[in-house]
Amino acid sequence: MTYSDKLLDYFENPRCVGELEDADATAEVHNPVCGDTLKLWVRVADGKVADARFKAQGCPAAIATSSFATEMLIGQDLDSARRITREQIADALGGLPASKIHCSVLASDAIRAALDGLR
Ligand code: FES
Repeated sequence: MTYSDKLLDYFENPRCVGELEDADATAEVHNPVCGDTLKLWVRVADGKVADARFKAQGCPAAIATSSFATEMLIGQDLDSARRITREQIADALGGLPASKIHCSVLASDAIRAALDGLR
């Protein structure tokens, strides 16, 4: 199994880790196959994602894609954020081995779940 250098960097040095106390929305998603978990916190201001943080329990691909997706979210308007796909996330990290493609679904599912739950 081969990961790109960029993916390994996001796994070894994950960005945007933690919780947001003043979050406007949160989501927690699980991969039913492996049991890995991603929690996402999002703060919104002026129609944009002002800040986001995540905590993940999972494989390197899950942690790297969660970190990258969380970083990618910050600054996006809500419509653009809702359109983020798992393919965009995986492609931006140099792709994923075929057996790990499902790992990027956590991030895209969490983004949609969080934004759908905005108060
Ligand atoms: S093996 Fe569970 S998300 Fe990657």
